[in-house]
Amino acid sequence: MCLRGAAVLLLLVFTAGCAVDGASLFSKKGCINCHRFKGKGGSIGPDLTEVKKRRSDEWIRQQLKDSTVNNPNSKMPNFGHLSDREIQALIDYLKS
Ligand code: HEC
Repeated sequence: MCLRGAAVLLLLVFTAGCAVDGASLFSKKGCINCHRFKGKGGSIGPDLTEVKKRRSDEWIRQQLKDSTVNNPNSKMPNFGHLSDREIQALIDYLKS
């Protein structure tokens, strides 16, 4: 019983420590230089505060992996080098 409790606790600590943080990725990866989100950031790209009302998760994933599929004249850099977890964290952040 005790051991099982300890194992669950360890697992929780482990997953919390590994979680990728969409908010910090949004600045670390430079999104914030071009995009305003909830009142903060640049204006080269569209304001993303309301993006969840316009775009599905799949659409945003595509935009990050290769934005020229959504828009052949896209000015947004390619973020295909990000891991699936990082991309998901960014999507979750934009949906928050
Ligand atoms: C150099 C500027 C630049 C950077 C950096 C950038 N974007 Fe963009 N982004 C754009 C531009 C410009 C558009 C407008 C559509 C296009 O050109 O593809 C756009 C479009 C988008 C859209 C679609 C918005 C809509 O409503 O159509 C999303 C979502 C998005 N960017 C997310 C991100 C995320 C997340 C990052 C960081 C990983 C990022 N962008 C980094 C310039 C940038």
